[in-house]
Amino acid sequence: MSDPKLKQRMVRHSPSRGAGSPDVWGIYEPDTGSIQYVCADPATKQAALMDVVWNFDAKHYRFSTGSMDQVLELVQQQGLSVAWVLDTHPHADHVMAPAELKERTGAPNAIGAKVGEIAKIWAEIYNLPNAFDPARDFDRLFAEGETFALGELEMRVMLSPGHTLGSITYLCGDAAFTHDTLMQPDVGTSRADFPGGAASDLWTSIQAILALPADTRLFVGHDYGTKERDEPMWEATVAEHKAGNVHVRDGTIREDWIAKRKARDATLPLPDRILAALQINLRGGRLPPAEDDGRHYVKLPLNRF
Ligand SMILES: [Fe+2]
Repeated sequence: MSDPKLKQRMVRHSPSRGAGSPDVWGIYEPDTGSIQYVCADPATKQAALMDVVWNFDAKHYRFSTGSMDQVLELVQQQGLSVAWVLDTHPHADHVMAPAELKERTGAPNAIGAKVGEIAKIWAEIYNLPNAFDPARDFDRLFAEGETFALGELEMRVMLSPGHTLGSITYLCGDAAFTHDTLMQPDVGTSRADFPGGAASDLWTSIQAILALPADTRLFVGHDYGTKERDEPMWEATVAEHKAGNVHVRDGTIREDWIAKRKARDATLPLPDRILAALQINLRGGRLPPAEDDGRHYVKLPLNRF
């Protein structure tokens, strides 16, 4: 897609619909097609940051902080204060920022409790048996159904496995941050072929999301545009997905979707930075410890995938 809108940073505000409903800002990160979110209680101005990207130039193996700087600038401009640094799952397409954001905001960081099981799978793949310890690297590990406060609003955790075995959806009033489950209605659904992922689990997770109230605002984790659409989009209601999601709209047969999902996933290459990103993300966004020359290195399994 040649249109510059998919190559530019972009911010959109989805305003609170009234009592109990959060203000949401989506901040599009064009390098990885990720959407980072700020979810805020309009009454207290307490905010949760979600799935913020630590920019990683995969051609030069260099980090920069433009995306997290942009998110924190928005927080400041809106007069918000950061109460939580949240991730929905250990991301494969980008490096995560929870350690750096905790350092910069003082807010606790959190992810789903099943990230421990994901870490075991990847510890074996990397042959790094003692490297990952989510309980050490995240302040909170949320279980299914757990709730926590965002100012006067309540956030609720819904386990949404399939893309990874420990992905979670964060619910806040009429907003749900579904990350890599649904894509926009004109794109469909997310892949389910990473280690620990399963299309059958993803189907169940998506059905649970689509069982939320019809006017729930669903915020997805990625958008790459389509042949017909050259501007990134990330918000649609449950009703819009049920009426028109090209993969899972009302009437879709589970087995048909699973077969289609598996066939599509079999054609997809690994995300270009997955093997570097996951060994940082599973350390809560910390680089591997420096070696005796003071430099940090990542480890890459060869002939494994
Ligand atoms: Fe993902």
